[in-house]
Amino acid sequence: MIDKLKARPVSHSRTILSELMIPSYTNFGGKIHGGTILNLMDKVAYVCATKHAGNYCVTASIDSVDFLSAVDVGSQLSLYASVNYVGKSSLIIGIKVVSEDIKLGVVKHTNTSYFTMVAMNSEHQPTEVPPLILETKEDVRRFLETKKRKELKQEHKNKYVALKLKDDFECDIEKLLATENCLVNIK
Ligand SMILES: CC(C)(COP(=O)(O)OP(=O)(O)OC[C@H]1O[C@@H](n2cnc3c(N)ncnc32)[C@H](O)[C@@H]1OP(=O)(O)O)[C@@H](O)C(=O)NCCC(=O)NCCS
Repeated sequence: MIDKLKARPVSHSRTILSELMIPSYTNFGGKIHGGTILNLMDKVAYVCATKHAGNYCVTASIDSVDFLSAVDVGSQLSLYASVNYVGKSSLIIGIKVVSEDIKLGVVKHTNTSYFTMVAMNSEHQPTEVPPLILETKEDVRRFLETKKRKELKQEHKNKYVALKLKDDFECDIEKLLATENCLVNIK
C-alpha cells in the first residue's frame, strides 16, 4: 500500500496546463473572459494539490487575482503550478499564467495567484497532507514567502472582519464621503 504521508518533493506535483484560446472563450470586448482563466487556474491548482496530497482536494480560498494584460483569442495560455507551502491539511499552490502569440512567439505574463486547497478524506473531512521536500533554494524562498503571505492574509482578514459598521453608525457622513464618487440621498 502507498504511504499517503510520505514526504514528496515540489517536483513530484509540478504541473503545466496549456490550452488554445478559442473564440467561444471571448468576452464582449473580444478578449478572453477572466472567468475562463480562473476556471483553468482552479483546474491546474486541483491537479497539483491532489498529486501532492494523494487525496481529493477542494479550493478553500483564492488570493487576489490581478489581470496584468488581456489575453487574445488564438493565443496559447499556459499555467505553471507548484506547491509553495503545506500546512496540516492545506496546501498553497502558486500559479503563474502566461499567454503566447503562437505566430509571433511573443510571451506575456497574464497573472500570478495563490490558491489554498484542502485535502479531504473519504468522509469529506480535512485530512493530513504529506510534508513537502524543498530541493532547491527557489523552493525554500517560495515556502518562506508563502508562509509570510499567509500570516499577512490572516492579519488582513481579522482587520477586515472587525471593520464592519453597525447600521446605526455615528459619523459625519458628508465629510467622510466628500471626495467619493457618490451622492447621499437617505430618505
Ligand atoms: C475548505 C474547508 C474544507 C475547510 O473546512 P474547515 O471545517 O474549516 O476545516 P479546518 O478548520 O479543519 O481547516 C482545515 C484547513 O483549511 C484551512 N482553511 C480553512 N478555510 C480556509 C480559508 N478560507 N482560507 C485558507 N485556508 C483555509 C485551515 O487553515 C486548515 O489548514 P491546516 O490544516 O493546514 O492548518 C470547508 O470550508 C469546505 O469544504 N469549503 C467548501 C470548499 C468548496 O466547496 N470549494 C469549491 C469547490 S472545490
